[in-house]
This record gives sequence, structure tokens and C-alpha cells, in this order.
Amino acid sequence: MQSWSIKEEGFDQERISSVGNKFLVGNGYFGIRGTLQEFNKNEYPAINLAGIYDRVGDAWREPLNAPNGLYTYLEFNHKEYRLPEVEAFSHNISLNYRHGIFTRTTTWNATGSKLTVNAERFASMEDKHLIAMKYSVHSEVEGDFRLVTGIDADVWDINGPHYDEILLSQNQDILKSIAITHESKDQVCVCESYQMDASHQEQLVAEDRKSLRVLSFHAEAGKTYTLYKWISVYTNKDEANYEDAAYGTVAKAKTSGYEAVLEKHIAEWEKKWNISEVIIDGDLEAMEALNYSIYHLHCIAPRHTDHLSIAARGLSGQTYKGAVFWDTEMFMLDFFLLTEPTVAKTLLKYRIDTLEGAKKKAKYYGFQGAFYAWESQEGGYDACSDYNVTDVFTGRQMRTYFKDKQIHISSAVVYGIMRYVDYTGSYDLLAEGGAEVILECARFYYDLLLKRIGGNYYELHDVIGPDEYHERVNNNAYTNKMAQYTFDSAIRVIQTLSSIGDKTKERLSNNYDLDALLHSFKDATEWLYIPQADTVTGIIQQFDGYEKLEEVGIEELKGRLLHEKEYWGGAYGIATHTKIIKQADVVTMLNLFSGEYSEDILIKNWEYYEPRTEHGSSLSACMYAMLACKCHMPDKAYPFFMKSALSDISGKGKEWAGLIYIGGTHPASSGGAYMTAIEGFAGIHQEKGELRAKADLPSGWERMAFKIVYKGDLYHVNITKDHAEVRNLGKHMD
Ligand code: BGC
Repeated sequence: MQSWSIKEEGFDQERISSVGNKFLVGNGYFGIRGTLQEFNKNEYPAINLAGIYDRVGDAWREPLNAPNGLYTYLEFNHKEYRLPEVEAFSHNISLNYRHGIFTRTTTWNATGSKLTVNAERFASMEDKHLIAMKYSVHSEVEGDFRLVTGIDADVWDINGPHYDEILLSQNQDILKSIAITHESKDQVCVCESYQMDASHQEQLVAEDRKSLRVLSFHAEAGKTYTLYKWISVYTNKDEANYEDAAYGTVAKAKTSGYEAVLEKHIAEWEKKWNISEVIIDGDLEAMEALNYSIYHLHCIAPRHTDHLSIAARGLSGQTYKGAVFWDTEMFMLDFFLLTEPTVAKTLLKYRIDTLEGAKKKAKYYGFQGAFYAWESQEGGYDACSDYNVTDVFTGRQMRTYFKDKQIHISSAVVYGIMRYVDYTGSYDLLAEGGAEVILECARFYYDLLLKRIGGNYYELHDVIGPDEYHERVNNNAYTNKMAQYTFDSAIRVIQTLSSIGDKTKERLSNNYDLDALLHSFKDATEWLYIPQADTVTGIIQQFDGYEKLEEVGIEELKGRLLHEKEYWGGAYGIATHTKIIKQADVVTMLNLFSGEYSEDILIKNWEYYEPRTEHGSSLSACMYAMLACKCHMPDKAYPFFMKSALSDISGKGKEWAGLIYIGGTHPASSGGAYMTAIEGFAGIHQEKGELRAKADLPSGWERMAFKIVYKGDLYHVNITKDHAEVRNLGKHMD
């Protein structure tokens, strides 16, 4: 039986940061880290907001953490009890990941008796602006309680403080905090209200950046007293009357009552699981890890808007600047395409909205077309700096070329849009601007093509492929192949314009010389150099000259490290001059285009590159897992699948790149685990516009069952060792 729950016993201060990620709850509008109510900014609590950023001085722009309306601690007989300051007699936390409910139970020794706090909270899946919390206290002896609760606007920031001003006020029984950002003077409004199930006295206290109330009451021995809290968050970006909306949300929830709000929240989660749950008979650990990964994807899915994407660390904090990478299209998108296509569309509409930013970036570097931001924030602004890593030895910023040279980002956007077209069978996204995105990305690659005098082929030079340890290389196999894919997609779009719709056809015909583009792209796709498998070894070189690099084992290379946080790439990185790569690169390419290669070539490259891969990115393991599945090696795929599925449970992800903290949740890994299960082990794929399963389960798995959406219809898939059934349930999904 699946427990749908993870737990941790005891309190370990060293683990506050990783526990915060692992026990996250969220609803796509915000993510609430798995931290305790009494924590202040030193313990990294965060109500991390999606899609709203701020920048202070020259520091990195990053997403906002809302003022913390959950803030609560207790005093008993005039003594404060809070972690980490006062050691607990016992402490445990748990996360119900079926319904996104975080719980903590802490008992302290209080002058000869025991004092217990039992609390739970959730980010409402029904009303995306609402958080609800229940906080119960209990003492073995009678005594005086004071619950100090309210809004703490002195939030944890990596590159803050982001709020220049905090306006605190109270309106009837609702506390309100409006935090005004530094850069754009955006306003984050948090409202808070409460109910108590016992008569008490209330006193309001305003401290610097904190608006608190002190609830005092005399407790009987052995009796439990419960405080309910309602918190809402709105920003000026959500709607014009955001203050009224925040106020209304809290007032409404309070009238409904905790149990009713919880019930609706649970009902929404049940709707999600009704489609997305994956059953694996014979391997409970894998099933739990996979559904936990799916939980995280649900927590960060933007369902409150129709144009927003997901950051590389989801909503777990400000790491990686809250920026959107290729992770979304290449690793997370399939989950949404197959379970909730409207969310997939929302993610891709973000790219359509940010096309202007991508065109500006291309122009800045002297090219036509669209060069998408490597680390995309609002409006397509590229948050990636030219110096993106800090050298551990000198403390100086190192020049990195991720932003300038990782041109494969534009092809990821194209890949996402075309996958949407194929899996939904709809041209709506192309008609709503997706067609322009594809043409502009193709124009970008076309402008980058180089030809040697006397040469036949077009080449792409001076790039970085997925493996970031080798910068500024020529003819990276993945990049060239994806550029070719982009040309092919642009050709497909031009050739199917009539099906996309008259308006799109007219719009594109007015803005582009489509015949000329078609001619250019056909020429480009035909003559673009794609690194081929060596006729003797079968190996595809990752880029020109890769074969001449030093051959060294990973362990030996690690032995050369002078500092545990040293960066492996860049000019002096230990991996730069060797064949050791950061993450799946050729293997990613082969996985995407496996149908074009013989199984022998696929296996040879898998076996060649795997021992040379550090898996230094959480994006790596799932690509090895998926390619292994395509080569009928499910048992080889299995450990890589588990590594992806467990990445946030195990908390073993890399926390540092040089001196930069990169910890947080790993949604690309979660998405990769899902893809491996569904498209790898179950072998779900399209064949001539139809959904098919070509299953190959790992040894321990007896059965897999799940639902997926394809071309608007809901399917049930049931796979046993010797049989795969894909059944259309006759239910149309909007
Ligand atoms: C990886 C990139 C990835 C980024 C965000 C980096 O470490 O090399 O491929 O997009 O992290 O997850």
C-alpha cells in the first residue's frame, strides 16, 4: 500500500535547508518551504512567488518571497518555546503528498511537564491565493499560554532585501501587509486572519517589519487549544483591486471554516491524481518516488494564469534566480502534455510572450531571429550573467559563456511547441504566435551557419552543448541536430499554414517572405553538418576534437580537486581538458532521435559516454534512463530512473556551483522520472498519429497502470509483463 507520506523524526539544524525543499507544499502561485512556523529568516522559510522578480543594485534579480503570514510561536508561563533555540524533547514533520499537507509535532519539556505543538498547513489547490493553517497547543499542566502570531515581512532573501517599504495595517480583524519592491515598486499584499477555539485576549503588536497579535489564555491541564489561520497573497500583477481581493479571500475562507476549505483543497488534489497517478505493482519504492515526483510537478504548475513557465528550482526559493531554463520544455513539459495539456499550453505561451526578448537578445549578439534567454525571467530578460560562477580560490567572478553560447535553448522552445502540436493534435498554439516563434528560431540558426571555403557543409561554431564543462566548442552534435530539427519544424509550419488557419497564413505572409525562408531552411537542413557515428567504433563525437581530450576516470579526476566546491568547467576547470562531461549530451540527442539510429549505435554511445559522465546536473540521469529503455535495457535504466525519481527525497542534489548556492527542488528530474516511466518503461509513443505502448518493464515490476491524455481524449494504459493495453476511455478532456 502506498503511504503517500514522507516523515522525518528529530530536529537537525544542519538539514533545515534541504528539509525545506523536501517538504514543500505549493499550488503553482506560491511554494511554501517545509520550515517551521517560528522560524525567522535565518532558517530559510519562504512563501516563494511565481513570476514576480526584483533586483537590488548589481546583485542578481530573483523572485520574491512574500511576507510570511504563517509566522507563529508560543510562550508558556512566560517562557518562549521555539526551535532551534529551545531544544525539543521530540520533534517530527511529515508531508502528505497526496494532498499537499505539511504537518509538524513538537514536544518540549516545560518545567516538569510536556508541552506540545501540533500544526498542519496547506497551499489551497482550490483558491490559489490562499494558505490555511491549524496550530494546536497542549500542556500536561495548567498554565498561561501566549501565542504570538501574525505577518513577518522581514523575509529571507539571497540577494535582497527586496522590499523598500512595508505598509502594515489592521482592518477589522484582518492584518494586512503591503510590501513594495525596490526595482519596479511592485506591491505584494498579504492579509491574515485567525480564529481560536477558546476564549482569549488579543493584543496587537507592531515590531520592525512584523505585524503581530498576542493571543493570551489560561489553559487547563491536558486540554488542546487550536488556532486557525488564513493567509492570502495577491500582487498588483494579479489584478487592479489586489488589496480587496486579498482581503476577500481571507474573509471568505474564514466564513467557510477550516474543514470546508480543506475538503475543497483535497477534492482538487483528488482530481489531479485521478488522471496523473501511476500504479506500479511489484515495486513500492519506485511507485512512491514517482508519485512524489509528480506531486512536486503539480505543486509548481501555473494554473492561475494562461502564460507563465516554471523555474528550474520550481517554487522552492530564489536559487537559480527563479529563472526558466530549457528544463521546462525538454524535461517537464511531457508530464503536463500527457496529464493536463492546458498547463502545457500555459508554459509555452510564456515563450510566445517572451519572443520579443529573444529577438532583442539575438540582435544584441548580432544575429537575426530569436535567441531565447538561457535563464529567462519576466519579458524574456536573460538573468544569466557573463560571470555566472564564483571562483573558490580567488573569490572572483569567472567569465562563463552559458548565456552567449548555449544556443540550443531556442531549439528547446521549438521542440516544446511541436510536441504540443503532435500530442494535442491542435494548431491553436501555432495560431496564437507559436508559428512566429518557430520561424524566428529557425532564422536565428540560419544566421549562425558557417561554411568553410571549399566546404560542402554548414557548421555551427563556438557553442556550448548541454555539457557545460566544455565551453565554446564547434559542431556540438546535440546543438547541430536540434538546429536541424528547428529548420525541419519551420518547413513543416510553412507547409501546413493552410491547416493552421487563414489568419495565421495572412499574418505570416505579410510579415515574412515565406518562399525565401522555405528555400533557405530546406538548404540548411540538407547541408547542416551532423556529427556521424565513427564507422569503426560507432561513437559520435560530442564536438570537434572531443576525441583528442585527455582520457581520465571520474574518481581520478575528483582526486585533482583542490577544493570541494571548485567549479569543474571554465578556463581552468578540472574537467575542461578531459573527456569527462557534466551531463548527458550525445545521449540526449540519441534519446530524442533514437529512431534514426541503429540499436547498436545507441548502445555503443550509451556505454561509451556513461562512465565519462559526472551526472553533475540533475538533468542527466533520466536521459540515460530513457535511452537505455529505448535499447531494451530496462534494468540498466532502472538505477538512473530511481536517481531522478528520488532526487528530492534523497536530497543528494548538488548544492554548490563554485561559491553559488544552487540547492532547491529539481523539477526537471521529477519530469524526467515521469518521462522514463511513461515513455521509457511503458514505451508510450505516437505512431502515425496514434498512441501506442511498447513496454519493457524492469525485472521487479509486475504491472504499470496510468491514464494519459492524447489529442484531447483520456486513455487508460495497463501494462503487464506480457501485455500492453491502451484503451480510449471515451472522455474528452478540455
Ligand atoms: C545544467 C543545465 C540546466 C540548469 C538548470 C545546470 O546545472 O547544466 O542544463 O538547465 O542547471 O537546471
